[in-house]
Parts: sequence; C-alpha cells; structure tokens
Amino acid sequence: MAKDTITIVDNRTGRSYELPIFYGTYRTYGAAIKGADLRQIKVSEEDFGLMSYDPAFMNTASCKSAITFIDGERGILRYRGYPIEELAEKGNYLETAYLVLYGKLPVKSELERWVHDITFHTIVHENIKKFMDGFHHDAHAMGLFVSTVAALSTFYPDASNIFDPESRKIQTHRLIGKMPTLAAFAYRHSQGLPYAYPDNDLSYTGNFLNMLFKMAELRYKPNPILERALDILFILHADHEQNCSANAMRAVGSSHVDPYCAVAAASGALYGPLHGGANEQVLRMLKEIGSKEKVPEFVKTVKGGEGRLIGFGHRVYKNYDPRAKIIKKVANQVFEVTGRNPLLDIALELERIALVDDYFIKRKLYPNVDFYSGIIYQAMGFPVEMFPVLFAIPRTSGWVAQWEEMLLDQEQKISRPRQVYTGSDVREYVQMELRS
Ligand code: ACO
Repeated sequence: MAKDTITIVDNRTGRSYELPIFYGTYRTYGAAIKGADLRQIKVSEEDFGLMSYDPAFMNTASCKSAITFIDGERGILRYRGYPIEELAEKGNYLETAYLVLYGKLPVKSELERWVHDITFHTIVHENIKKFMDGFHHDAHAMGLFVSTVAALSTFYPDASNIFDPESRKIQTHRLIGKMPTLAAFAYRHSQGLPYAYPDNDLSYTGNFLNMLFKMAELRYKPNPILERALDILFILHADHEQNCSANAMRAVGSSHVDPYCAVAAASGALYGPLHGGANEQVLRMLKEIGSKEKVPEFVKTVKGGEGRLIGFGHRVYKNYDPRAKIIKKVANQVFEVTGRNPLLDIALELERIALVDDYFIKRKLYPNVDFYSGIIYQAMGFPVEMFPVLFAIPRTSGWVAQWEEMLLDQEQKISRPRQVYTGSDVREYVQMELRS
C-alpha cells in the first residue's frame, strides 16, 4: 500500500527527507504536510531551516477546523456538514448560530433555552448610548459599530477569563444578543433618531427591524417576508471558514485578549472593501454604471484593467457562490413587498454579460454573496453604510465559534508568521553630520 508521506530531495545537499502527509475529513480535499517539518531541511547546522513562503495564505492551512466546509471548485458550502441550501430553506438564524457554535442542531428544549439566553442579553448598558452620542453626526455606521463592540470589553471585565467555559458562554450570549442592538443604535444615531429599545417578544431579526425602524407606533410589527428574508441572509453569513475576518479573530484572539476586542478586530477586517465592504461598493458601482445599456462599456473598462467588477470573484469559490444563488431568490420575494430595485436590472445584465465573457470565464469569476445582497438591503430601506454592519451581526456566531475552536486547540499558539527578510545586511550607525 502507498505510504502517506512525501519525499523531498534537497538538490543543494543531495539529502532526501520523508515528511508525513495528514488528512482532514476528505483525502482529496485537505491533504497537508506540516510547515514545521520543513525546518529539518538545512544546508548546514547553523541554517535556520527551510520555510514555506505563502503571502496571503494562498495555500496554507492555518488550523484544523470542524466548523465550515467549502469546496470552491464545486460551489459547496456546509456548516457542520449541513448544506447551506437546506439550512436557508428549513432553518432559522439562531438555530444556525447554535449549530455553528456547538456542532449539532439543537433539540427543542436546547433551542428554547438558547433563544431565551440570547434574547435576555439584547439590552445594552445606558452608557453605551452616551458614547455613541459622541460620534460625529455623519460617522460611518461601521466605524461606530467596531468601536462600540471594542468598548463592550470595558463593560464586561469578566470576559478576560477566556479559559472559563461558563464565562465564554455568557460572552457568547452577550455578543450575539447585543450585536443587533449596537447595529440599530449606530443606524439611529446616523439618522438623528432616538434609540429604540429591544422588544423581546419578537424574533431575532424581527426585533432588529423593530430597533431600526420603529417610529411613534406603540408596538412595531415587522413585515414577515422581510423578517424571514433578513433571517435567511443572516443564515448565509453565519460563517465562512478561514476568511479574512475569521483569520483576524483567530490571530487577535490567540494573544488571549477578551472576545470583544477580538470581535472588534474581526469587524475591522470585515469593514474593508475587499471583504464585507464589497456590497456597499457593488451599489456604488451599479449607480455609477447608471443604466443597462452602459453595461458593455463598463465591462470593457474592467477588462482593460480599470478597476474590478465588484461582487465578482472570490478567493475560494471558482464557481457560482452558493449563497449568491439563494440570495437571488430572496431578492424576488423582497421586491414583491418593497417594489423592484431598479439597480437589479443593471446587476442582471452585468451577470449575463460577464458569465459568457472569456475574461471572466478564464479567471473563474462568478457573482459572490455581495453581488445581490446590497440590492436587497437597499430595497429594505438600509443606507449603504449599514451593509457591512448587517454582515457583522450574523458573522459574530462564526467568529466566536472560530475563536473558541482556536482556544481549545492544543496545537495552536499565539499567531505569529515568519518572514523572508529582504532588507539590508548589518550596517554601522552614521552620525547626522556624516550622512550624505
Ligand atoms: N473583476 C475583474 N477582475 C478580477 C476580479 C473582479 N472582481 N477579481 C479578480 N479579478 C482578476 C484579477 O485581476 C486577476 O487577473 P490577472 O490574473 O489577469 O492578474 C485574477 O482575476 C485573479 O485575481 P486575484 O486578485 O489574484 O484573486 P484573489 O483570489 O486574490 O481575489 C477577491 C479575490 C479579492 C474577492 C477579488 O476577486 C476581488 O477583488 N473581487 C471584487 C471584490 C469583491 O467582490 N469582494 C467580495 C468578496 S466576497 C466576501 O468577502 C464576502
């Protein structure tokens, strides 16, 4: 039988090394060697040993994980083994968050307890309102959100007990419970509206809509179609294995900081236009294009190297993003309530043209989750500044799951990559008057 090893011959020395290969769940997806095993490959005793060079982690597994599986070539996404399509069709967000965090679908009593615990933690300390008020009137909602999440760390000093499972559980409830409240407060601040308090008789997304859009009515009644649409969008965004923000969560969390600071760091990563900020950029791009007729001209400029087709392409998916497919369906349901977003026609035309264009086919560029989500959010009445915030709320469950998995993984240590130094060799300090 063939051995699960690889033999590397170092042509500098003629020596050969046999390194073990290990696998994840699948033998054809997730075979790896340990980077540290390369260190034994040396030209001399003083040699530090061989490293692997992999900017942006293009082909480096930073952890073993049992949370999310993605096969980008085949367009597959599963949380804990469950296909995203089934969860989006049959599940709800809080059930999905439980699944992502604890690895199993909850039984009825577990779900009731979980929903109760999250709902119990939706209210934030009154002082949070005070410092939110300190932000400038036109502050970006995501800026408010990131800062406020970090500030939660000062309200819950017990969160630093990261190796106490009970403390981790409470911080998890607090984080998932309070995210919609912070997000809604950030929105109300930007609109100059009074903050609306949580209504704990409503669902997770129903209550979020209440805190966002409640006006003078005694009791806010969310539209059930929009409430469900938002819930599906939250399911789709719960986790996405080792993406930029999950990696930030793990890397920052590996210093053993409390989870609020780590979530703030992850939220900061999500804010960037190449990650969670992309749907905001999609809308700006669609507006800039202006009409369906101008799409071919725009595609030409992208192919000419003038910018990117935002909402297209993905580091992992080299096929249609399965989340984008579900979102496209949700869009139609939402538009029946809100009326059709005129930007949809431009988006559909862009997709139609790009999917048959050689440039995009060759590079395997397909619509990603952000391509349609922004159009839905806009139709639902969200300003673009809220888009990354809407992403951060459901992704919190994924971040916390990734963080906890990292903390409990005996093989993990403080995250600290190596570098290949390319700077000067040692130099002598030169006094100012002698410098040329
Ligand atoms: N439009 C046009 N060309 C593109 C696009 C795009 N959206 N994305 C990649 N390409 C091209 C690149 O120019 C490059 O072409 P080249 O080989 O001729 O140089 C090739 O495709 C490979 O691109 P990379 O940048 O190497 O791909 P990478 O995997 O690093 O990038 C990323 C992935 C950042 C998502 C990229 O596709 C992109 O910028 N997309 C637009 C932004 C976006 O939609 N981000 C949301 C991602 S989903 C999420 O975070 C939830």
